[in-house]
Amino acid sequence: MIMMGGETLAHDHFQNIVHDIALLNSLGVRLVLVHGARPQIDELCQQKNIQAKFHNNKRITDEPMLVTVQQAVGQLRSQIEALLSTGTSNSPMHGADIRVVGGNFVMAKPLGVLDGVDFAHTGEVRKIDGKAINRVLDNNAIVLMNCLGYSKNGETFNLPVEDVATQTAISLQADKLIMFGENNCLHHENGNLIKDIITSEILNLVSSKLSQEQSTQLLSAKHAVENGVARCQLIQHSQDGALLTELFTLDGSGTLISQNHQEQLRSAKMEDVVGILELLAPLEDKGILVRRGREVLENEINRFRVLVKDDMVLGCAALYPFDNQMAELACVAVHRDYRGGDRGDRLLSTLETEAKNQGINKLFVLTTQTALWFEERGFKVGTVEELPAEKKSLYNLQRNSKVFVKGL
Ligand SMILES: CC(C)(COP(=O)(O)OP(=O)(O)OC[C@H]1O[C@@H](n2cnc3c(N)ncnc32)[C@H](O)[C@@H]1OP(=O)(O)O)[C@@H](O)C(=O)NCCC(=O)NCCS
Repeated sequence: MIMMGGETLAHDHFQNIVHDIALLNSLGVRLVLVHGARPQIDELCQQKNIQAKFHNNKRITDEPMLVTVQQAVGQLRSQIEALLSTGTSNSPMHGADIRVVGGNFVMAKPLGVLDGVDFAHTGEVRKIDGKAINRVLDNNAIVLMNCLGYSKNGETFNLPVEDVATQTAISLQADKLIMFGENNCLHHENGNLIKDIITSEILNLVSSKLSQEQSTQLLSAKHAVENGVARCQLIQHSQDGALLTELFTLDGSGTLISQNHQEQLRSAKMEDVVGILELLAPLEDKGILVRRGREVLENEINRFRVLVKDDMVLGCAALYPFDNQMAELACVAVHRDYRGGDRGDRLLSTLETEAKNQGINKLFVLTTQTALWFEERGFKVGTVEELPAEKKSLYNLQRNSKVFVKGL
């Protein structure tokens, strides 16, 4: 499900976005597009000398305004259909025909009179015909929707595009709702992009310094995610290729809104073995970690904790209990692209807590190149003599690893 405000349609990158949408359709991705028309409506109003009226940031749609909205939406619809008709030219999928279907999928109701102001043809979504949309999607067509909806008695209503997008995504229980915008992504105070935010953190943010666009999209995303849409993603149309980056890279683009953080720290399962092997292989090649084969890993998988995102193993660590209430911390590793984000710390503190809960009072680690990292986290230089007898007998003199110990 993709939402594009009229600003996105007016942007230089719009043609490329449509091209990417056509490509996705030809690859079999089920797509519903919902577009708005705010700047185009404003422009038409200016041309026709119509005074646009708003109350609480909501447009009042009287009769002349409704005609203008219909005109703007109709033009945009035809423009999008024309662009999609060029299909996937200049791509390996050249020649694939793209079908676009629109229709009366949105049942609307009037907003009515608020604070004594009659909103006339400004409305809100009453119901979405998800079944009809799904039938179109089953036929591999793209569903094209806009900000107009109809009531049972045949009246037309102008609806907020975010409302249509959210309610449609909920009705379809979409895998993803992607919202394009101008400056809709969220940033930390230092300017860095917030890649991932959970719904419970949103209300704190909305009361802080956010633009109207950000607040509206965030609250819509929150509503969608809390009502069964798996994820919402805010992406910027000014970033060329944002849509494909979002869909085909692990980190995506823009800000992701979901119910739970995407990275999960949990006990490793058999399905993680391949991911752990891939994570450890380069470190084993460099001699940073002792080589462990697949069989060993499969036998010892219950010793491992992993940090995963979309089933990709980003980090791991293992705990091997010995006699004398001691345990070895081993295979602490974080994927090189994800280092420096406290993931190593999270793995370490999780295993420390687990060790304590198991009655272990001393952790040790053997390391050749990561001594400082452990020292900075409370480990002290130890000796081979301090190791449990079983481990001492296996100590590899050639590796000459340093022993570090931490009391819990
Ligand atoms: C050690 C490791 C797990 C840390 O993961 P991480 O997610 O980057 O850890 P954190 O974000 O919690 O910590 C990052 C800090 O550790 C420092 N650090 C990373 N590797 C280090 C090393 N080998 N020695 C000393 N400090 C190191 C970073 O410089 C950073 O410090 P800074 O914040 O002051 O810049 C990761 O670097 C790794 O996988 N290294 C290779 C495997 C390894 O050596 N494992 C230990 C085997 S016993």
